[in-house]
Amino acid sequence: MIKKVPMPAQKIPGDLPGELIDQFGRKVDYIRLSITDRCDFRCVYCMAEDMTFLPRDEVLSLEECARLVKIFVSLGVTKVRITGGEPLVRKNALWLFNEIGHLENLNELVLTTNGSQLEKQAQDLKNAGVKRINISVDSLDSQRFKSITRTGDLDKVLKGIQAAKRVGFENIKLNSVLMRGINDDEALPLLEFAIKHAIDISFIEEMPLGEVNHTRESTFVSNADTLKLLQSKYTLTPSTHNSGGPARYWQVAGTQTRIGFISPHSHNFCESCNRVRITCKGELFLCLGQEDKVDLMPLLRQHPDDDMPVIRAILNSMSIKPKGHDFDLRRAEPAVIRFMSHTGG
Ligand code: 5AD
Ligand code: SF4
Repeated sequence: MIKKVPMPAQKIPGDLPGELIDQFGRKVDYIRLSITDRCDFRCVYCMAEDMTFLPRDEVLSLEECARLVKIFVSLGVTKVRITGGEPLVRKNALWLFNEIGHLENLNELVLTTNGSQLEKQAQDLKNAGVKRINISVDSLDSQRFKSITRTGDLDKVLKGIQAAKRVGFENIKLNSVLMRGINDDEALPLLEFAIKHAIDISFIEEMPLGEVNHTRESTFVSNADTLKLLQSKYTLTPSTHNSGGPARYWQVAGTQTRIGFISPHSHNFCESCNRVRITCKGELFLCLGQEDKVDLMPLLRQHPDDDMPVIRAILNSMSIKPKGHDFDLRRAEPAVIRFMSHTGG
């Protein structure tokens, strides 16, 4: 049993709430922190082909990331997901995982990755306290994988998945975005792959974020259709499993695999939203699909030895967390012009 490290962040004064409750009574106990906007892939639904990345000093330092996580945990956050871009391409990312992985009161440190660095880093991440990982895989055909990710090497990702399995995370889940005419014929092969490896898989409906080079209405695949397709081959029973997120889960009978469906279009999951997102620039976004945000970086930098200004800003942000997102496939413009790599999936 690894010893938990006591929380070093500033004590919250008694006159302030010690937890994050928004104006609709939703408790925020989950943060997703993007530690870089960079990625070694350029997935078509996520990035433009030629992206300009942020200059180094406009990105939170890893020390600032650790400080923020400690502050959020002192405000009742129990689950932290590290995302990007691709978090594992950030130099010394492992330092951050080690710094926060065993914090007292942090129940779950989890990671979203494209898997390209996992072969090298899986063991260190496990040792640092990462419990669960999500690995994005949209195709099992290496040519097609290359065309979706533009630069990705499927073989490297498959080796990463193997490494993650060997190391023995509590849970490994694949994330797949299906697009009509691009990879929608892979729902079954992807599920079969997950079953063979005794891991979970989530199908994510493509969200209108950033600008892409295909029209989403024509490539959109609804999770309802994917579910029907998978049910034609497998017996699926609704699962009570709840990963604390918007996914609805089904157990594949006779296997260890669960299928999650994340359906921002067909199923509005905003009522039970428990999360906020922090970009690698230190912007606290209160909803994936809305613009409401608070800039934490200036406060962090102006008050290097005093957490109170940041704590107050986070507490105040609860009054502007929107009721829900507003994705509409038919709209010409994306609802939000932010790239996922900026906000953090
Ligand atoms: N719509 C849906 N999913 C997306 N992701 C990135 N951009 C989008 C988008 N526009 C997914 C990736 C990865 C996770 C971080 O977010 O596939 O699994
Ligand atoms: Fe990179 Fe993930 Fe975006 Fe693909 S979806 S470009 S792997 S950050």
